[in-house]
Amino acid sequence: MLDIFKRKINYLRISVTDKCNLRCHYCMPDGEIQLLPRWEILSLEEIIEVARVAVDMGIDKVRLTGGEPLVRRNIIGLVAGIAQLEGIRNFGMSTNGILLREYAHQLADAGLHRVNVSLDATSPEKYAEITRGGDVSRVFAGIDAAIDAGLTPVKINCVVEHSSQEKDALDVALFGREKGLKVRYIRQMTPEKGEFWPVQGGDGGHCLTCNRLRLSSNGMIRPCLFSDIGYSVREFGIRRAIEMAIAAKPASGRVSNNKFYEIGG
Ligand code: 5AD
Ligand code: SF4
Repeated sequence: MLDIFKRKINYLRISVTDKCNLRCHYCMPDGEIQLLPRWEILSLEEIIEVARVAVDMGIDKVRLTGGEPLVRRNIIGLVAGIAQLEGIRNFGMSTNGILLREYAHQLADAGLHRVNVSLDATSPEKYAEITRGGDVSRVFAGIDAAIDAGLTPVKINCVVEHSSQEKDALDVALFGREKGLKVRYIRQMTPEKGEFWPVQGGDGGHCLTCNRLRLSSNGMIRPCLFSDIGYSVREFGIRRAIEMAIAAKPASGRVSNNKFYEIGG
């Protein structure tokens, strides 16, 4: 599929839930978050059907995100359903790693190819502070389990305040070197203020070559993280929603009200 700027669209990022078992301060507000009403959340069958149609239309790379994808009930069944689709070359998941030790082998058996794990600090105190209570040792164990299960190459996503030279970022770089894992740095973004940056060491944020579509957990096909445009698969049907999103994909992002925990990073 080509968009009107001749960009080849072959990558679908699927947010499977807006729930998360952490509360990273740059992602979640201080107080209670307003979760989407349950009836709005796509069923696993609906998500698999969107993936099937998308792959049929030319998508060959799929990534599951959240919220935290591993808190979705029967995530293994979802992975298995998508992995079976003929035409997927690249099937990954972005996770915070907290539940990865429990799930890594099942995910690999179900047909997932690889995982990206979020890790913003290696010191237990700093990690707990950033995530509002997370236990970094579980992430370390999760990363080891993912490597052991062959969900490789495991990559690390590290959100930084300003640069990859900050203390916590340097700690994560050292951890990556020790484990032989690639680390990508993502500068904190504020979509509603139009503040966003390319991912250092990754493909994200390069509008000229952007190949992405997104499916939010409530069934909107969104052409851009930094735009509010979106088309409901329930309202328009899957094929039509995808066609409309591609036709409306902006040349570059501007501002949006997107929440990372709703749409995935
Ligand atoms: N800025 C940049 N990335 C963010 N993420 C969440 N909130 C933000 C933000 N404000 C992304 C990061 C994180 C993933 C779960 O979501 O990549 O690792
Ligand atoms: Fe959860 Fe990811 Fe948001 Fe942290 S950044 S609260 S791990 S969704």
